Amino acid sequence: MTSQITLRRPDDWHLHLRDGNMLRAVLPSTATHFARAIIMPNLVPPVVTSADAAGYRDRILSALPEGSIFEPLMTLYLTEQTDPDDVAAAHASGLIKAVKLYPAGATTNSASGVSHFDSVRPTLERMAEIGLPLCVHGEVTDSDIDIFDREAVFIDRVLDPIRRTTPGLRVVMEHITTSNAVDYARSQDETLGATITTHHLVINRNHILAGGIKPHYYCLPVAKREEHRLALRDAATSGEARFFLGTDSAPHTDANKLLPCGCAGCFTAPNTMSILAQAFEEDGALDKLEGFTSLNGPAFYGLPVNKETITLTKGDPVTYPSHVETPDGPVTVFDPGFDLNWRVE
Ligand code: DOR
Ligand code: ZN
Repeated sequence: MTSQITLRRPDDWHLHLRDGNMLRAVLPSTATHFARAIIMPNLVPPVVTSADAAGYRDRILSALPEGSIFEPLMTLYLTEQTDPDDVAAAHASGLIKAVKLYPAGATTNSASGVSHFDSVRPTLERMAEIGLPLCVHGEVTDSDIDIFDREAVFIDRVLDPIRRTTPGLRVVMEHITTSNAVDYARSQDETLGATITTHHLVINRNHILAGGIKPHYYCLPVAKREEHRLALRDAATSGEARFFLGTDSAPHTDANKLLPCGCAGCFTAPNTMSILAQAFEEDGALDKLEGFTSLNGPAFYGLPVNKETITLTKGDPVTYPSHVETPDGPVTVFDPGFDLNWRVE
C-alpha cells in the first residue's frame, strides 16, 4: 500500500484571492502548498487594465507571509471596452498569463462581463495571434435556460462558435461540471484545456439540496448530477494533458454565504491537496495526481514545471481548521464530508 507520494509542487490554475483583509487572510492557505496560481480578476471594481493588474499583483506580493515563495499569475477581466493593445502589452511584458471571459451576469462580480461576443472579437483575434490564453466561465445567463443546463448550452451557443471563428485561440474551459464539457474538451485539439475544481470531484447536487440546504456547497457553476461528477473524476484521473487543477477556491465570509441570497463559492485552498490525494487513491489513480496538479497546467500555459516538490503522507485522519478568521468574520473551509488521511508534509 502506498503511504507516501512526492509530487512536483502543484499550481492552481484558477484561484480567487480577493483583496485587502480577505487577501491577507486566505493567501497563506494557497502559498503553503502551491507555487503559482492564475488569479481571478473579479474584484470590485474588476481588474480590467494592465495598470490594474500591476497594482493587484503588488498587493498580493505584499500580503505574502515572510519567507513564502509564491508567484501570482495575473489575468485581465475582458470587457466590451477592453483595448487589444493594452492586453498585448501586458502579455509582452510578462505581467499577465491569461484573459478572463465572464458572460455578463453569470456569477460573482460579473456585471462588467461580456454581453455581445462580437464586440470582443478584435481582442480575441489579437490573443490568438500572440498565443495568450482565454479563460472562460462557460455558462449562458438566459433566464429561460435552466441553471443545470447553462454549461451545456454555453458550449453549443457560445464556446464552439468562438472556437470556429477564432482558430488558434488557446482556451481554458474553467471549472467544468458536466460530462458534456468533458466530451467537448476531448473532441478538441491541444489548443483547448479544461480545469476541474476539487469540490466538483467530490460533491453532486444532492450534497447542496438533499436533507436541508447547504450554502457552503453552493458555487457556480453549480454542482450537477452524480453521473457528471463521475465524468469529472474520470477526466481528472485519466492522465490526459488537457485536464488540470483549477480549485476555484472562492472565499466569502459566512455572513455573506448564509443569507437569503447567499454568495456562490467554496473555499477549498486549505485542504485541496489532501482531498485530491484521497480521491485519486480511491480511484486507483495516485500515479495520475502529479499530472493533474503539477504537470498538465504548466504544459498548457507554456511554463516550466516547478523544481520543488511536496510530499503527502497517509496516516491518521488529518485535522484542518473549520474556518479561517478574517477581520470581517470567519470563512468556512470546504468540508468534503469524509475523513482525510493524506497530509501535506
Ligand atoms: O462559485 C463561484 N464563486 N463561482 C464563480 O464563478 C465566482 C466565484 C467567486 O468569485 O466567488
Ligand atoms: Zn472562479
